[in-house]
Amino acid sequence: MSWSYRGSLEGRVALVTGGAGGIGATLCRMLAEAGARVIVGYRSSEREARELAAKLPGGPHLAARAPVTDSAALGLCAAAVDEAYGRCDLLVNCAGTTKFVPHADLDELDDALIDTILTTNVRGAFATVRAFRALLMRNEGALVVNISSIAGRTAMGSNVMYCASKAALDSLTMSLARALAPHIRVVSVSPGLVDTAFVQGLDRRWRDEQAARSALGRLATPEEVGLAVLSAAVGLPYSTGVIIPVDGGRPLN
Ligand SMILES: NC(=O)c1ccc[n+]([C@@H]2O[C@H](COP(=O)([O-])OP(=O)(O)OC[C@H]3O[C@@H](n4cnc5c(N)ncnc54)[C@H](OP(=O)(O)O)[C@@H]3O)[C@@H](O)[C@H]2O)c1
Repeated sequence: MSWSYRGSLEGRVALVTGGAGGIGATLCRMLAEAGARVIVGYRSSEREARELAAKLPGGPHLAARAPVTDSAALGLCAAAVDEAYGRCDLLVNCAGTTKFVPHADLDELDDALIDTILTTNVRGAFATVRAFRALLMRNEGALVVNISSIAGRTAMGSNVMYCASKAALDSLTMSLARALAPHIRVVSVSPGLVDTAFVQGLDRRWRDEQAARSALGRLATPEEVGLAVLSAAVGLPYSTGVIIPVDGGRPLN
């Protein structure tokens, strides 16, 4: 991590939903390195979240159940964060889901899959903001970062509904930025394909093709997504309602 962010979030509290995932775990580590106390939100990866929270620098950090499709559970999560820290300065909506379905295969993208994608990626982000709004309002300078995808702009991605869900998430970013101003800033961080362990496990030729399609000729690293989150938190205090691309110039090609 760039040394300039070290200590920049000292005294701040950050929740990352999907915090044990490929990108989420890196975000948790970088936020902790920047001095934040981090809540690693999980749905099914409780063990991974606890192990991660235990090994992050600084702290104290927490692992907390944060299933974004369950608003009652999100309410309990907010209460637990309130009890532990009495504040939440940064909410990173990183939880997300998808499945590879060719765009022309309308039948495989069935209603159940559509509902899962939209409920998680769109309703889930909104519901988490709703649950944490009061805590975010408690201190000045609060920020929500929605981890979106450049697929929301290019309409190219793992399936048609995933792309639509990220376009909807970007719209949500703008609406919520207006609705929650001036108390809470809301931004999207919008990566192209990120070189996580999952992506590294996919077909090598397909990955190389994707990398070649970005102007910079490579995939994003999870750290580059983290740097965008930290930049939004520390370096862009007058920005809200914006979509911050981390895509290597993918839409240029
Ligand atoms: N990887 C990429 O190339 C890429 C590119 C652009 C954008 N993104 C976005 O970045 C975010 C993270 O992706 P990733 O690559 O890190 O994926 P990942 O490794 O599959 O992680 C996804 C995380 O989302 C969590 N999650 C899924 N459904 C949930 C639910 N209902 N409630 C709470 N948590 C839920 C999972 O938590 P549990 O494990 O606890 O169930 C998991 O930690 C996603 O929003 C994704 O759309 C990824």
